[in-house]
Amino acid sequence: MSSRIKSPQQLIAESGADLEGHGLKRTMGLFQLVCFGVGAIVGTGIFVGLSDSVAEAGPAVVISFVLAAITCIFTAFSFAELGGAIPVSGSSYSFAYASLGERTAFLVGWCLLLEYGVSVSAVAVGWSQYLNELLDSLTGLQLPAALSAGPGDGGVVNLPAVVVIVLAATLLVRGVRESARATAAMAVLKIGILVVFCVIGFSAFEGGNLTPFTNGAGGITAGASVAFFSYIGFDAITTAGEEVKNPRRNIPIAILICIGIATLLYCSVALAAIGALGADAVAGQPAALSVVVDQVTGSSVGGGVIAFGAVVAIASVVLAVMYGQTRILMSMSRDGLVPRIFERVSPRSATPVANTWIVAAVFAVPAAFASLDVVVNLTTIGTLAVMAAVNVAVMVLRRREPALRRSFRVPLYPLSPVLGIGFCLYLIWGTGWTTWVQFAVFLVVGTLVYALYGRRHSRLGAASPAPAPLRAPGGDAGPGSPGA
Ligand code: ALA
Repeated sequence: MSSRIKSPQQLIAESGADLEGHGLKRTMGLFQLVCFGVGAIVGTGIFVGLSDSVAEAGPAVVISFVLAAITCIFTAFSFAELGGAIPVSGSSYSFAYASLGERTAFLVGWCLLLEYGVSVSAVAVGWSQYLNELLDSLTGLQLPAALSAGPGDGGVVNLPAVVVIVLAATLLVRGVRESARATAAMAVLKIGILVVFCVIGFSAFEGGNLTPFTNGAGGITAGASVAFFSYIGFDAITTAGEEVKNPRRNIPIAILICIGIATLLYCSVALAAIGALGADAVAGQPAALSVVVDQVTGSSVGGGVIAFGAVVAIASVVLAVMYGQTRILMSMSRDGLVPRIFERVSPRSATPVANTWIVAAVFAVPAAFASLDVVVNLTTIGTLAVMAAVNVAVMVLRRREPALRRSFRVPLYPLSPVLGIGFCLYLIWGTGWTTWVQFAVFLVVGTLVYALYGRRHSRLGAASPAPAPLRAPGGDAGPGSPGA
């Protein structure tokens, strides 16, 4: 079965056509874009996950963070090349449409429901845990477990997780200007809080706490797999393609700046925490940063401030990731692959209001009832599958559209995307067979949805005559087949 393909020029022209009409406004500059990226990246992974990666790797967790960053950076180069060449909303979904064909693009969009949608649920559950820490440090009281955890985590329903999703949706429907401002403020605040944490941690730094430095290569590798979650979200920058000023320049620069900031912050925070208390004291502490500050300052006030920072940080991840999900669905709806309600933009707020509330309602369900482990693992495998597809897309597009204007080119081509694919497959291998089976079922359902809905409603398929694309080496793109 052949798959339809959409040219990059067509994607850009379509988004431009919408801008002239009732579409999205270009309001985001480089600073806002970097804040948006940091908002999507820095959150649960460092505030909640640090203790788990330290438990695996010991002080060598800094190497784990660097390894996870390298894994991301190869794919980030690919995102940067594609984001600079095809600056439209939709991220990897649009890139796949322009290179790998409609069927693969649909499946990439389907996997993005894991990376963005299910991730909203996962991060909201993490937020709920930190909210309880904050309440505890402010009042000495916590919400009852029955109302603040799902059945898989020893409760009945996770109400705070639902509340943060509803709050994020409320901000997003008010408009990108307000949302971007809120995201920028939260990003600056959380970087500030992590920097203050580092200053406090380094003030009590003792070199002896870094020995023994490593638990061995296996520990470093396991630590890198855990650390990978803390980098998820950098590609959200490319979902904002249609709302960014000068996107060809700003998108690639913003992605690379964001990964750099995240790596610097994570390594500094890990060194400060371990240098102050030692790896054993940090490992297995869900609120490790609060514990470090409490012990170094000898007061519980600092720990409360850190808990407040975590609540803000994780909320901004919910906001940014939900924003990304709505823009991806908008792109898919514009192509006819999901119902048209997802592309409707409110003339008053210039935001996709119905889309946002549907996303909030659907992903509030796993947030309320699913186990944190399940949603985190599904987010990870979905993200890795998308990243592998993006690296393939770079190579296919280089062959298919050699003359396409690219503001950024991956270095060491084709080594960079090939290494990107290799690292993604390696980390997918590490997620374990339970997650593979869940993911396989998810993909089968996605294939059925495409066959029964997407392919039949595709606007590209309805357009006639469709240009016959070149055959992609190794891809599934074949001759356009209108209405097929
Ligand atoms: N990278 C995001 C976080 O750590 C998912 O919360």
